[in-house]
Amino acid sequence: MRIIVEEDYESMSKRAALFVASQVILKPDSVLGLATGSTPLGMYKELIEMYQRSEVDFSEVITFNLDEYYQLPHDDAQSYHYFMKENFFKHINIKEYNTHLPDGMAADIEEECRKYERAIESSGGIDLQVLGIGENGHIGFNEPAEKLNVYTGLVNLTEETIKVNSRFFSSVEEVPTKAVTVGMGTILKAKRIILLASGEKKAEAIRDTVNGHVTTQVPSSFLQLHPDVTLILDKAAASLL
Ligand code: PGA
Repeated sequence: MRIIVEEDYESMSKRAALFVASQVILKPDSVLGLATGSTPLGMYKELIEMYQRSEVDFSEVITFNLDEYYQLPHDDAQSYHYFMKENFFKHINIKEYNTHLPDGMAADIEEECRKYERAIESSGGIDLQVLGIGENGHIGFNEPAEKLNVYTGLVNLTEETIKVNSRFFSSVEEVPTKAVTVGMGTILKAKRIILLASGEKKAEAIRDTVNGHVTTQVPSSFLQLHPDVTLILDKAAASLL
């Protein structure tokens, strides 16, 4: 596991954007695994600026997002479909048909999950996976539990995650209690992984990711088993290392 510690959120975001841009410059038809949440927002902003300066071209890039809430319409301002469109896709030259998110509105959710796995596989697999991390060590919506899913599936969100994510909703009752997430196996099959974390609230999860036992109670600890993972942290997130 490689660990890069940057001074603050802005330099962490710049460093992460350079990783993604380098990947796309070296392989213009890269398959990127993307994440939502507050953490990667700065990285997306940097990438948009790099695109505007013609430093990176997304015309051949294919993307697969990690997760989506269950039964939240795509045009809902809290859906991850909406997040990706507003914060990244509509500002760059990516082709809409090359962007993928799990469809939490699908009538047959199990078939949707199988379809998502097949689509990742037939694209050739994820070249670079971008991850955030939950305060509880979740990656995607793979929550701490006795067992973790290997493949994309419908999962229950933990009370902690619902509480943490309620900051985006008008009340905690409005937060969906289920989500579709790519599984741990799918994440670990990515050729390269970068994980971004910022702020003191993530310090314990980062400590357990790097120095803890590999345990389903800290899903991010499984990253220790992957041969090409880089953590890009700010000083606060790295403060317990
Ligand atoms: P955050 O979420 O970037 O909004 O902290 C990360 C996550 O829960 O995976």
